[in-house]
Amino acid sequence: MKRVKTGIYGLDELIEGGFPAGRTVLVSGGCGTGKTIFSMQFAYRGAVEFDEPAVFVTLDERPKMIREDMLRFGWDLKKAEQQGKFAILDASAAKVGFPSDEKYTLPQSGIDIDKLLMKIMDISQQMGAKRVVIDSIAGLGLQAENVNEIRKTILKLNYLLLKTNYTTVITSEIAEQSFESGPMMFSKYGVEEYVADGLIVLHYLGIGTQSNRQLYIRKMRGTKHFEDLIPMEITPKGIVVKKPEDEYKI
Ligand SMILES: Nc1ncnc2c1ncn2[C@@H]1O[C@H](COP(=O)(O)OP(=O)(O)OP(=O)(O)O)[C@@H](O)[C@H]1O
Ligand SMILES: [Mg+2]
Repeated sequence: MKRVKTGIYGLDELIEGGFPAGRTVLVSGGCGTGKTIFSMQFAYRGAVEFDEPAVFVTLDERPKMIREDMLRFGWDLKKAEQQGKFAILDASAAKVGFPSDEKYTLPQSGIDIDKLLMKIMDISQQMGAKRVVIDSIAGLGLQAENVNEIRKTILKLNYLLLKTNYTTVITSEIAEQSFESGPMMFSKYGVEEYVADGLIVLHYLGIGTQSNRQLYIRKMRGTKHFEDLIPMEITPKGIVVKKPEDEYKI
């Protein structure tokens, strides 16, 4: 199986070299757990360092803010965009019915999943993209009570993305919960993880020590992966994960 470097420092060696190429990985976690940074690191480093152009679809945050925030990690999105390696598709404005002054946007009339997919295909083909990110699936505004509709939408998304061979990262939100509070939910609607080929869960304990962030590989089809909670850190160069034994090495 061909592998794609994730761009997350330390992660590839825990999943046999990287994400399965051309597949979809879901990254889920509570608010502020690092989903946007994770998915951007995958897209940006892929485009700039591994020569795999990327399209980043933003449904929640405005592109201007993203460009600003990501500069903190030394990721110059604007430059990569100008070089044609990287593109942001702004779906955040359409979602609330506003016009957007971005190069790639959706009609102001709101989010239509088919139009969104068409647009992603268009841009990806134009730039020869190899990576696609959708941040986040919750931003699609699907009706939570309609599980069949959600499943269908995600299957459709996955099917189209698979057909085109892009390696895709989709983010999803989950409410913070403890292991004691009943069955774990891994995604907003509880169905996304079944459709995706891989599921990575991000945790943040928020106690203020160095290792209060953790990453957990819940599944990665076709891959022998690390099974423990993995300490992770958001550093000035982006997300770094460490094997627990390294963390405690003196
Ligand atoms: N430059 C930075 N250095 C260290 N930590 C940072 C930096 N920028 C952001 N963070 C941390 O990352 C968090 C935001 O990460 P990110 O936006 O990726 O989370 P998210 O899971 O996408 O959140 P949301 O659910 O709100 O979209 C911040 O709350 C902060 O704790
Ligand atoms: Mg986010």
